[in-house]
Amino acid sequence: MDLDGIVCPQCFGALKPSEPKTKIACVQCGRQFLVDPDSGVPLLFLDNQFSSAEDVTERIKAFYEKTPFPDYELVDSAATLRIKSERGFFARSLDEQIPHGARVLEAGCGTGQLSNFLGLTFDRQVVGADICLNSLRMAESFRQKNDIQNVRFLQMNLFKPVFRPESFDLVISNGVLHHTSDPCGGFRSIGKLVKKGGHIIIGLYNAYSRIPTDIRRAIFNLFGDRFRSLDYRLREKSLGERKKNAWFMDQYKNPHESKHTFGELLGWFKREGFEYLNGIPKPALLQNFSSDEKLFVKNAEGSGLDHFLVQTWQLLTGDREGGFFIMIGRKR
Ligand SMILES: C[S@@+](CC[C@H](N)C(=O)[O-])C[C@H]1O[C@@H](n2cnc3c(N)ncnc32)[C@H](O)[C@@H]1O
Repeated sequence: MDLDGIVCPQCFGALKPSEPKTKIACVQCGRQFLVDPDSGVPLLFLDNQFSSAEDVTERIKAFYEKTPFPDYELVDSAATLRIKSERGFFARSLDEQIPHGARVLEAGCGTGQLSNFLGLTFDRQVVGADICLNSLRMAESFRQKNDIQNVRFLQMNLFKPVFRPESFDLVISNGVLHHTSDPCGGFRSIGKLVKKGGHIIIGLYNAYSRIPTDIRRAIFNLFGDRFRSLDYRLREKSLGERKKNAWFMDQYKNPHESKHTFGELLGWFKREGFEYLNGIPKPALLQNFSSDEKLFVKNAEGSGLDHFLVQTWQLLTGDREGGFFIMIGRKR
């Protein structure tokens, strides 16, 4: 079992196997953790112990245990994973532009498609972490089946990381923080894991462009799920039934989600010592992505008016991705 660089989520003490292949113990506080017997994934989840606001972690965990997202349907080998991932601009550009030798964490990796894809490249180390064990089992089973060497998976609550501060060159968290009780606190927690000069990539639901999804959800709640074809993805012929169901559940039956704006995420960046570099869509008016876009190069972050206009434009045109936006920052 590879515990290199992994520490106790409670006291940051070193971890060591205490019973071969089944248990891990902290050498400092003595806390014991199990290893999943089916997959070999270390189970290092620790509760938030939030004192205020209702903690949604257990509800979210239970939800994704039933409906792991995004699911591997129609992706049966490393070759198909590569072909499918490279069709998407974001995954392909990331793979091409992550600096050589980088240590990468995907916080909230779900079933691990992105982590496994990035792990296909030899000179990087990727960690995929999530709270949902069934998702991690799918991720690890795909990894083992395809002998992907540069990625490993573990169960971790992003509010209780199992890494020391400044352990990663890049931390990615796509579509995760808006499913937590404290998205800004979650950002702070994973932001600490980025090395100085390293990068963070955050994907969140947008308060403007999520409105069409909210309207469809209200329609489904009122009239039943038979109107599913109102969602563009659920009409797509190329998508398998399992994947469609995972998307439907994630978008319309999720027990908790919050929505955010460009200005809000830029505020988190500033507070936690990150400078804004790039975004999808770009928050400054009339700036578009080129096909050879440099993800990690500084772009204008735009004015408040720019943000309003771009987000309104997204509301009118950006429905396909469920009203999602991504920002990339560099730690000062
Ligand atoms: C919508 S899925 C996104 C999965 C993947 N990032 C993607 O883009 O396909 C959200 C994931 O966040 C995970 N998650 C939610 N709260 C978390 C937490 N506190 N720590 C770690 N993962 C969490 C869920 O288990 C779920 O797998």
